[in-house]
Amino acid sequence: MSRFMGRRDALRIAGAAMITLASDAAASRGRSGAFDQAPADDSLHALAAAKGLRFGSAMAARQLDDPRYCAIIREECGLIVAENEHKWYAIQPERGGEFNFGPADRLVAFAKTNRLAMRGHTLVWHHPKWMPKWLPDLRSAKAAEALLGGYIDRVSTRYHPFLTSWDVVNETVDEKTGDLRETQFSRVMGPQVIDFCFRRAAAAMPGTQLVYNDYMSWESGSANHRRGVLKLLERLRRSDVPIHALGIQSHSNYEMPNEFTADKRREWRLFCDEVVAMDLDLLITEFDVNDNRLAPDVANRDRIIADYTKDYMDIMLSYPRTKDVLAWGLVDKDSWLQNFLPRADGQRKRPTVYDASYRPKPMRDAIAAAFRGAPTRSRT
Ligand code: XIL
Repeated sequence: MSRFMGRRDALRIAGAAMITLASDAAASRGRSGAFDQAPADDSLHALAAAKGLRFGSAMAARQLDDPRYCAIIREECGLIVAENEHKWYAIQPERGGEFNFGPADRLVAFAKTNRLAMRGHTLVWHHPKWMPKWLPDLRSAKAAEALLGGYIDRVSTRYHPFLTSWDVVNETVDEKTGDLRETQFSRVMGPQVIDFCFRRAAAAMPGTQLVYNDYMSWESGSANHRRGVLKLLERLRRSDVPIHALGIQSHSNYEMPNEFTADKRREWRLFCDEVVAMDLDLLITEFDVNDNRLAPDVANRDRIIADYTKDYMDIMLSYPRTKDVLAWGLVDKDSWLQNFLPRADGQRKRPTVYDASYRPKPMRDAIAAAFRGAPTRSRT
């Protein structure tokens, strides 16, 4: 059993005894039992579990009020992640104000009730655009450490040990330069602000999988981003910083799914090779497919997206160090991509697994096929 997978596995192993949960959809689908005794259904989570993988999705607190969305999550997922509710700007919207844990806590309660595991996203989105707006200019490293450390301690301990994996730092590498982004914290703490976050999280949540998460990708414009991420990971490794995995968001941002050429695949593999050579796990943390420049025909778009999904998953799952696959939402109409890089023709995008009427799309078959064909991996 993985050192990172305590609670969910414990729940699974104890599952047979948990008759109080017998009415729960997950339990009735035979999810109890050890991880390697994969349940005998063909949900995406079951297909993933048969190979030592986990499948899950992002979920927003408002979707808890959407019974159809909840049903899909229960049916398909072994884990969830909060789309925004665990972010600093959501938890502490005002300076000195109360911590607003309510929406995040609702998602955690849903995960517990439905015996889903849950990842934490994200302790420190180290990106000036996404820091809380009220953050003051800090005069000393000591003041910065007190503020940042206090926040990390408060949030980490609240959810420990239920959240067995956290994106400790998100998106700190500038996509254009490959350098670290500058924030109020880095200005006084220097690049060591990243080390600080990981060390502090490790101290607050022993046994938790600590992840660096970013959107570097196979796209040709992402070469500097990839280089910058490798440089950061190498430095963290050299400095013995407690980090266990790279979260590969897996949004395709600017290039279309039919532009995933052989050359780009090769470059992408080289990147992944370097990451696993650093003894890190790989997690697909936010998969979706941007189709803003594909021709509008829906069937054609869905086919291109599904073909790309299968190709991308096949590459990623060929690495035994790939352990989790999470989609960034499961229903097209709710995808954040409807607002980010919208289509010029005003048509709705088709970036996720289920359409606006909650019907599975070819992308679902592609993910299922990739799981079926994936080599088995151990969770340790
Ligand atoms: C996005 C959410 O989906 C949006 O609702 C929000 O307005 C902005 O953030 N990379 C990340 C995620 O790490 O947190 C982002 O989520 C998508 C890109």
